[in-house]
Amino acid sequence: MRVLGIESSCDETALAIVEKNNGRFLVVKNVVASQIALHSKYGGVVPEIAARSHVDAIFPLLKEAGIPHDGYGIDAIAVTVGPGLVPALRVGVELAKALAWCWEKPLVAVNHLEGHLSSVWLAEGEFPKFPALALLVSGGHTELILMCEHGTYELAGMTRDDAVGEAFDKVAKLLGLPYPGGPSVSHEAEKGNPEAVAFPRPMLKSRDFDFSFSGLKTAVAVYCRESARTTNIVQSGGHPGTFVQDICASFQQAVVDVLVLKTLAAIERFAPASVLLAGGVSANTLLRCTLQNTVAKAYPDISFHIPPLEYTTDNAAMIAVAGIFRAEKKDFTDPLRLVADPNLAL
Ligand code: KG4
Ligand code: ZN
Repeated sequence: MRVLGIESSCDETALAIVEKNNGRFLVVKNVVASQIALHSKYGGVVPEIAARSHVDAIFPLLKEAGIPHDGYGIDAIAVTVGPGLVPALRVGVELAKALAWCWEKPLVAVNHLEGHLSSVWLAEGEFPKFPALALLVSGGHTELILMCEHGTYELAGMTRDDAVGEAFDKVAKLLGLPYPGGPSVSHEAEKGNPEAVAFPRPMLKSRDFDFSFSGLKTAVAVYCRESARTTNIVQSGGHPGTFVQDICASFQQAVVDVLVLKTLAAIERFAPASVLLAGGVSANTLLRCTLQNTVAKAYPDISFHIPPLEYTTDNAAMIAVAGIFRAEKKDFTDPLRLVADPNLAL
């Protein structure tokens, strides 16, 4: 089965063709038009700019991906319908509806979060076994999810305020580092001392699987304010100094400690057969390595799965994989009725 995936929920316009062959997923085409440069001067995504850029980018991307004009060879179209920014989502959704209508091909509505979870199936090696426990960490979500099978989810815990990616982005802004914050904070963290500042590990003692990151972000802000060097956060040459690097390393360590310990507690409680890590923040090297090593050491019988690095942040290959799982169940949607849903739940 060959599926065209379409993604436009936030600041990446993306198209992909994924083929399922002998049980494995082969990415035939994968193109992404990133809007990072457009949003970076605002320190975050501006919905109206995102929507206009999706419109500008999506047809050139169709051409770049070499999508046949008549849809030849494509068995279904999968599109992100939510959650996300509604003006952005609508660009992908309306294109998907038009193509499904013209080509007379089935249309699959995909939840963006289900797409992130499905990105793990793009990795080499054994597929995850069910029941699986997934730590989903992105710019808008921080959730521990139990997966009994594809399409069946139970929310074990979630953030009560900021998502972890959002916390990275806000801390970066505070420190004068470029958007998006995750890559820039983790880059500076490599040169810093993770024990330099004792930032809090929020919610570690709560008896549930929820998270909270807004207090940690505030702790970074307060630390900066109270420090004598606040005015010298970014050195005169524009390069962050040791002060910033130590804050980044200490903040990142606090985040990773919380994510890993909460996931371990959820493993203890739900005894899954496998553990998944997905979402944009799963690009974080410290998180990938620490969670993998900790799970392997504490639970050698539980397999651990992460997406390949290039499919951690938003892309359409993951949407196509999720689309294949739904298409196999004939879970199609009517192109005349499909509407984007900014608050779509899993
Ligand atoms: O999944 P994603 O591409 O978009 C959403 O669905 O939100 O995730 C984007 C988030 C951003 O907040 C970005 O700062 C974060 O993922 N991120 C990272 C890293 N790379 C991206 N956070 C920490 N470390 C990274 N290396
Ligand atoms: Zn995402």
